[in-house]
Amino acid sequence: MFHQLSKFFLILLVIAACSPNTKTPKDGEDILFAEHIAPIIYENCVKCHHVDGPAPFELITYKDLASKGKLIAYVTQNRIMPPWPADPSYTHFANETYLTDEQINLIQRWVDGNCLPGDTASLVQPELLTKKWDHGKPDLIVRMPEPIKVPGNNSDLFLVAKIPFELPQDTFIKAIEFVPGNKRLVHHMNAHIVQFEPNKKTNINEGEWLVNQDQSKSQEIHKQLGILHDDGSYPTMTPSVCNYLPGAQFSFYPSEVGGYKIGKKNAFYLNDIHFGPSPIAEKDSSYFKIYYAEKAPKRPVSEFQIGTLGLAPVEPKLIVPANEEKTFHIQFTVSQDISIITLVPHMHLIGKSFWAYAIKPSGDSIRLIKIPRWDFRWQYFYQPPHLLKLPRGTTIFVEGVYDNTASNPNNPFDPPREIAERNGSMKTTDEMFQLIITYVPWRKGDEEISMD
Ligand code: HEC
Repeated sequence: MFHQLSKFFLILLVIAACSPNTKTPKDGEDILFAEHIAPIIYENCVKCHHVDGPAPFELITYKDLASKGKLIAYVTQNRIMPPWPADPSYTHFANETYLTDEQINLIQRWVDGNCLPGDTASLVQPELLTKKWDHGKPDLIVRMPEPIKVPGNNSDLFLVAKIPFELPQDTFIKAIEFVPGNKRLVHHMNAHIVQFEPNKKTNINEGEWLVNQDQSKSQEIHKQLGILHDDGSYPTMTPSVCNYLPGAQFSFYPSEVGGYKIGKKNAFYLNDIHFGPSPIAEKDSSYFKIYYAEKAPKRPVSEFQIGTLGLAPVEPKLIVPANEEKTFHIQFTVSQDISIITLVPHMHLIGKSFWAYAIKPSGDSIRLIKIPRWDFRWQYFYQPPHLLKLPRGTTIFVEGVYDNTASNPNNPFDPPREIAERNGSMKTTDEMFQLIITYVPWRKGDEEISMD
């Protein structure tokens, strides 16, 4: 018995020692890249810093890391990298990436000790490491009619686009992946699928395919892009079939949920493509990869949003006077049992903090998400570790703080001016306050479905 137990503990110990982030050198021992630092980098940085990833350079080999040692110590110490604005002491997510204080100190000590390599020959080959982010061959690739021109005027560019595509027959889709062309410039993108009724739409290429987002009324934009049927009616639109943000990683949903069925005449409707500022004129040829499914989707994913343009209003009205910091709330009760797949908090530039939780009819509370320091640049689709049940009658509470003072470095105006929500305008210099939730109606066993 004793023998068996000790064997059990030994196995546990071995597992603990091998787990990537627990290798702590003993006092006085050198900090070595291969032994101590590489596991942290592989786990937390390579997912973006690989050749096809969203980050502008690779961080894989000893050379990659050692040549930027001081900068890496700086960005990790200040928690600029890896970017993870949610508070991990409040809730965990399946897609989270953050470093522990211990890991941050280890990186600092490695840099202070002149970035010693250790046994680099024992490290995984970079090709094997980056293979993890290759999702296989798509069944269909949908490209833009022509590359998008990004002017070299050092300012953000916000566009709306329609990318039509035809299929020979009704088709089941498992997932859609967006591949940014110019990944230094493409900041974020949100795409819906428009499904035209074939006999109600003669020409799916009708209208312009690309317009500036500065106009505020979405109906006008829809007309310009030819999103409507010939008789002026709206086609079916499946929202947010694909989203891209820096660091937002494409993943297939668990096989139990998700999927779409689409017809012959379709278009991607990109209601928001944001390009970051560029000092020189550049082009972008981003595209979509579509993966087909063999079977009809069993549980299509739905979405609702609360706050700006949503099912429940922002209270009080979202107006942030110049030189003030102001708090707003959203409150919404769900009318059916749902299983949350992702939580997407959304604010613009002067957002300061975001906090959402829910209270069940029983009075128990459910933590959703806390973002103590809102950062416009990192807006994720936060995936709870398992599908998260909100029973019917649960009230969601959201609190958002906005900082419209001159001391907010992200304030777009100097001196500050009143900033408000205007007709749901998506311009970053106007504000929004939303929580977007993707979900499926709850079913027994959902809480066991892992999002990892
Ligand atoms: C979610 C994706 C993502 C992850 C994870 C990530 N990075 Fe980055 N990193 C970026 C992007 C994108 C940039 C480009 C600059 C920007 O947009 O802020 C960047 C920039 C950097 C820079 C340059 C900063 C500068 O000011 O020039 C360093 C250094 C860096 N990352 C290190 C790391 C390290 C170390 C890790 C892991 C501990 C890491 N990154 C994890 C996406 C990521």
